[in-house]
Formats: sequence, C-alpha cells, structure tokens
Amino acid sequence: SLDIPSETYDVVVVGSGAAGLYCAIVLKRLGLDVCVLSKSEMYEGSTFLAQGGIASALPPDDSTDLHFADTVRAGAGLVDRKMARILVEEGVKRVIDLIELGVDFDKDEEGFIRFTKEAAHSVARIAHCKDKTGEDIEKALISAYSGRIQEFVRVKELIVKNGRCYGVLAEVSGDLRAFYAPAVVFATGGAAGLFEKTTNPPTSTGDGITIALRYGAKLKDLEFVQFHPTAFCDDKECFLISEAVRGEGAVIVDRHGRRFMGDYHHLWELAPRDVVTRAIETQRRLSGGDIYLDFRPIERRGIDIYERFPTICRKLKEKGLDPKKDLIPITPVAHYYIGGVAVDSFGRTSLKGLYAVGEAACTGVHGANRLASNSLLECVVFGNRAAYGVYADWRYLSKRFAEVRVKLEEWKPQNEQKYVLEDVKKVLWSNVGIVRTADSLTKAIDRLSNIALSLSNWEVRNGAILGLAMAISAMRREESRGGHFRSDFPYEREEFKRHSEFTLEDLERL
Ligand code: FAD
Ligand code: SIN
Repeated sequence: SLDIPSETYDVVVVGSGAAGLYCAIVLKRLGLDVCVLSKSEMYEGSTFLAQGGIASALPPDDSTDLHFADTVRAGAGLVDRKMARILVEEGVKRVIDLIELGVDFDKDEEGFIRFTKEAAHSVARIAHCKDKTGEDIEKALISAYSGRIQEFVRVKELIVKNGRCYGVLAEVSGDLRAFYAPAVVFATGGAAGLFEKTTNPPTSTGDGITIALRYGAKLKDLEFVQFHPTAFCDDKECFLISEAVRGEGAVIVDRHGRRFMGDYHHLWELAPRDVVTRAIETQRRLSGGDIYLDFRPIERRGIDIYERFPTICRKLKEKGLDPKKDLIPITPVAHYYIGGVAVDSFGRTSLKGLYAVGEAACTGVHGANRLASNSLLECVVFGNRAAYGVYADWRYLSKRFAEVRVKLEEWKPQNEQKYVLEDVKKVLWSNVGIVRTADSLTKAIDRLSNIALSLSNWEVRNGAILGLAMAISAMRREESRGGHFRSDFPYEREEFKRHSEFTLEDLERL
C-alpha cells in the first residue's frame, strides 16, 4: 500500500478569505510555519464580494457599548454576550490594523473616514471602500501575507486518530495529497451557496462545516440562515444590492409605488434584515406584484449614486437598468450562514487540533440574526484570536504530533451522477428557505437523506449532509426567531431561547 504524497507544516489554514488570511498573517508573525490552502483561485470567496463595509465603534459619536447593544438587539435573544463584547472591543483595534495594512476606507473632504449606516445600527459606523469593501480588504490581506499559499487545493477530509486532528487530505489536480500539521484552521466560509437563490459565490458550500461534522466536531445553530432582503435576480444569476444603499436613503416600494416598511417596523427600511425579508415576501403577496428598490432619494441627498455605488450600478446597467431613473426589482435570497462549527473565543473546536474561524465557525456572536457588516469584523477579530489560540496550545499540539500516515487504499472516491448539487440547492431553497413548516422540513429531510446516502460525488453528498443537518435543526426549533421562521410556530418561545447543537450522532439516529 502506498503512502499518499504529503507536505508537513506547523499550521494548515484552509481558506483564503478574510478569516483565513488574517489568521495566517498573525500565525506567521508568531513564528509558525503556515500554509494557506484554497480550493479555487485565492481571491474567490465571499470576502471579495463584500459590499457594504465593516462595522466598528470607531466614529466619535459611537461607543463599544452602543455597538454591543445593537448586536445583541438584532440577534433576537441568542447573542453570546461574552463573544459580542470581544467583537466590539477588539473590533476597533482590528479595523485600525486593516487601515495600517493599507485598506483605504472612503473619506470625507476633510480626510476623516466617512462612516455609513446599515440596518439596525443606531449610528453610522460602517467603514467602506465604495461598494467593494471586501475586494479592497482581500487585496490588502493578500499583499500583507508573506507565507505559503496554494490555490486549487480542495480539502476533502481530515486526518484524525484517537480524537485528535493531524492534518487534511486534499485533491490537487485530480490527485490526493496529505497536508500534515499539528494544527488545522478551517476558514472555509459559509454555506448560503447551498441555496438555489443566493448572493454567495460557488465556493460557499459549507465544506469545512460538513467535514468537521463527519469527523466528530460539534456544530451549532445550524437552523439559522440569514436571507438578505435586497438581491437582484434574473434567470441567469442573483447579485447583492447592498444594505448601504438603504443606509444612504433608498426606499422599498410595492408595485403601486407605496413605501410599506412602516407597516412592519418603526425603523422602516433599516429594520433588522429578517424583518425586512419577511415584510417583502408578505407585501409581494398582498400587493400582487414585484417589490422594488428606489435609489432616487439618495440623489436628493446630494450623493451621486454612480460614484458611491459603482459596482452595483455597473451590474444593473448590464441588466438594462439605470438606478438614477428606474425602480429596481428586488427579492430576498440566502446570504449568510449563521450556524457553523462550534468554537470557543480562541477558535478551538471540540476536536483537538482543529480550529475554525469566520463564517465557517459559530461563535454565537450573531445570535439568531446577524447585524449587517459584523461578519467581516468577526473574521478579523476571531481570525486574530484563533492564531493566539493555536499559539497558546502549541506546547501540547507540537509535543503530541504523532506520525500518522494515510494510505491510498483508505480513500474511495464515489462518482455516481444520480444527483447533482443543483438538486440539493433546489430542496433547500424550496423547503428550508425564508418560511419553513413541519411539512416542508419533512420533505427536505426525506429528499436530502436519499442524496446523502447515494454514491454521488463528494461535493453533492457533503452538501446534502449539511442540508440535512440544517433541516433537522430547523425541525427541532418549534418557534420563530431571527432568521428562522416557522409559519406553524410564528412566535418566539421562551423554552427555545437557547443555542442548538448538532453532532454526528444526530445523523446516525435517523
Ligand atoms: P470566504 O471569504 O468565503 O472564504 C472562504 C475560503 O475558503 C475561500 O478561499 C474558499 O475557496 C475556501 N474553501 C472553501 N472550501 C474549501 C475546501 N474544501 N478546500 C479548500 N479551500 C476551501 N459582511 C460584512 O461584514 N460586510 C459586508 O459588506 C458584506 N457584504 C457581503 C456581500 C456579499 C455578496 C456576500 C456574499 C457576503 C457579504 N458579507 C459581508 C459577508 C462576508 O463577506 C462573509 O461572511 C465573510 O467574507 C466570510 O469570510 P471567510 O473568510 O469566512 O470566508
Ligand atoms: C450589504 O452590503 O448589504 C451586506 C452587508 C453584510 O452582509 O453585512
């Protein structure tokens, strides 16, 4: 039997978005030999697409107490307060670090950062680079990271022995390669790309979350998916229209041109995301037609929308729409995965040697509904802390790094074409979407179990397993809270004011 070709590092970071890169930069600074692996081109991921910006209590009229209070309020009773404290307090320092790394946030005429507002924030605290904040952050992090990075390396399995992780197995140009390391950091991003309608790039298939589950790590809050209220969709694609557009004054109207958000929430268009999402769906039914975003009030405030939102305006122009003149049809789509691998405040998962950060992780900081622009912040705050987590654990990790070698015959790829990823996406969008019921969830569990048990390829089965775990978690939460809405249980219930956990045993019980 053959040894699989291999490489060995101190730390393998899987994922080259904001979370992975920031963590890798700090690990390198701490003197560890790091390798970042990315399944696609290094820029590909949600980070590059982020539009609105990054929140922090930097503005002079803000305070970390206020940012904390907004985060807790938006999270509908489930925010982990300790984590939220860390996020807002350390967040200020991390945004300053980003500036020092070269991120050039937009400034006013006097040279001060021009903060914008987004939903459920009580002050304007979002620093942004026009509507391409993620692209600028990603580029700055890539140029600041001087360690190894390997593109088109798709991690598929963990190397685990006696409850301890010793590295990962990945596919590189069709061949298997083992990456051995005393510490592995999953920064593989979220899973909203598993839904048919999504703002996410194709990389967001929840790979790290499912792999962690399959190797025994605890997952958390899997039922919570955030649907963004304002995407533009046609037959070919969906793309995001940033909440910052509403922050700068755009309004939502129905087909009669009536602004209706006041019927649903006192914050109108800047109500929490889950509220705006459901209001749009309800109003679409009540008014019997499309719902639109009207950019024109922004111009009335003296802001040039082509200048402020160049990326969005260019995309809309490609679709034959001019936001200076036209109403823009919008629809809510899957946007952010709140659930993920359960971690402590230093990124430690329940599996020794495995850490998780960014959207792949669940720190509990977003509760049941994430506050806009808190996720890039989470990536850098907890990316930094995970690096220190590895560093703090290094004595244990390095001393017990055993010679575990994976043999080729243990690997059995399956490639039956019975199902494709599109099947998983359709089931999730139709049955585990914005509005869920026991019936829709039963249907999803049934269909996804078949796909998960089939011999379909790795990506399809992996997606189906995570979809199944989401549906089971959504079935168990017999209430509505934040991003999770059950029309058969439309209110919050005190007995469900708690996080949910999911492990491999929950699947095996099926
Ligand atoms: P990503 O940036 O998604 O990176 C994941 C990485 O993991 C990628 O490099 C990917 O290739 C790699 N990967 C995945 N699976 C594997 C595998 N099996 N093997 C190897 N590599 C793998 N948040 C904000 O705070 N502000 C915003 O303005 C904002 N706007 C957004 C706009 C859009 C359109 C989207 C989609 C999201 C937005 N978000 C925003 C959310 C935010 O961008 C993400 O939560 C955040 O960027 C996630 O970063 P990450 O590093 O965890 O993951
Ligand atoms: C947006 O720009 O609306 C996205 C912000 C976010 O997801 O935090």
